[in-house]
Amino acid sequence: MTTTTIAMDGPAASGKSTVGRLLAEKLDYVMLDTGFMYRAVTLAALNAGLDLADETAVTHLATSLTLDVQSAAGHEDGRHYTALLNGQDVTWDLRTPEVDANVSLVASYVGVRQEMVKRQREFGLRGNIVMVGRDIGTVVMPDAPLKLYITASAEERARRRWRDRQAQGHPDSFETILADVKRRDDYDSHRQHSPLKPAPDAIIIDTTGQSVEEVVDNIIEKLPVNSVR
Ligand code: DC
Repeated sequence: MTTTTIAMDGPAASGKSTVGRLLAEKLDYVMLDTGFMYRAVTLAALNAGLDLADETAVTHLATSLTLDVQSAAGHEDGRHYTALLNGQDVTWDLRTPEVDANVSLVASYVGVRQEMVKRQREFGLRGNIVMVGRDIGTVVMPDAPLKLYITASAEERARRRWRDRQAQGHPDSFETILADVKRRDDYDSHRQHSPLKPAPDAIIIDTTGQSVEEVVDNIIEKLPVNSVR
């Protein structure tokens, strides 16, 4: 079996993390959700009391952080992996509305992106990985043999996020979430550096109205034959 990388990109709440996780499980690959890194930089900057508009300070901080992921083993709180920031478990701190509201700005800084891309490529060298993000097929792993762009309508994505939030006990209204999904789409696709867009050779998969299993089975059919275990 050859080692392979699957690059998976798509907008917020498109289902790419869920699809990536199940796909990795079925192939016995590792899944890396690269969004955790931009969230961790945002959290560290907020915790340090930095002005998030200060690109130089945020970029400097980003280069000094230790970021890692571990399996969710030993935690029964619904997490899919454990995110470590300077050795501390910050898995749930990365999901607060405050981080949500600021992460697009932090992810737009070119120096922050360069640093995170470098780290993501190091993870990629381990092989047999499904790497999920916004620029994996275009920037991080442009040579990945399989590139997927997972999308769904803004309304469907907002509905999914609303359901997740309800399950976690957050009272946000559907309208607020839809507005946030649209705002982040707009910001992520129009930023100057590495905007969200499919790689020219990415396979585009619209998950609107499809179950995760259907999407994953569909992807497995598309895998280069010699890369499936
Ligand atoms: O996937 P997510 O919602 O956890 O991503 C958080 C933010 O990070 C989002 O604004 C997009 C950005 N991001 C990025 O620019 N590049 C990536 N590879 C992953 C995430």
